[in-house]
Amino acid sequence: MKQSSPKKKAASNAETASAGQPVSTPVETTSGLLELFTDGIKDMYWSENHLVKSLPKMISAADAPELKTALSNHLEVTAEQATRLENVFDLLGVKISAKKCDALEGLVMSGEHVIENTIAGTEARDTGIIMSALKVENFEITCYNGLIQLAVKLGETESAELLQQNLSGEIEAEGMLGAMSGKDAPVSKS
Ligand SMILES: [Fe+2]
Repeated sequence: MKQSSPKKKAASNAETASAGQPVSTPVETTSGLLELFTDGIKDMYWSENHLVKSLPKMISAADAPELKTALSNHLEVTAEQATRLENVFDLLGVKISAKKCDALEGLVMSGEHVIENTIAGTEARDTGIIMSALKVENFEITCYNGLIQLAVKLGETESAELLQQNLSGEIEAEGMLGAMSGKDAPVSKS
């Protein structure tokens, strides 16, 4: 049987409301947002732990010492981020659990394909690793920005602060990787 679309559901809820029953109370609205927030934290917890496992592969595949160092530093930061998320679970009074994030898994897989398809010690390999890592950082930055907004909306101030610290770690990594990719270098004119 065909499932009814969210729009249809909303319409039928509106009908219910017009029949005298409230559609969504403030409590229901908050619980929906809280569920969205908690799911997002579980996604990020899975993601950070997945990156703790996958970053060492990128570090050993990289050639340039500064790239190896930047990735190694971010590996440490990533482990701290996972711990901070455990603190967010505690603040929420929710059991620590991870929910597989398909998007992050895909980004990591495409980074692994870059390594498979390039030759060790080449500029192409290092550039590919930087580009892949930047995609991951941009994704994480977007996720943390959204979660911080949700935390603030829910009045979860302490969680918002912890998430802000995680966001800062991603922004710092993005800056380092971006500098290495030469995105700020002037375009040469011939
Ligand atoms: Fe991270």
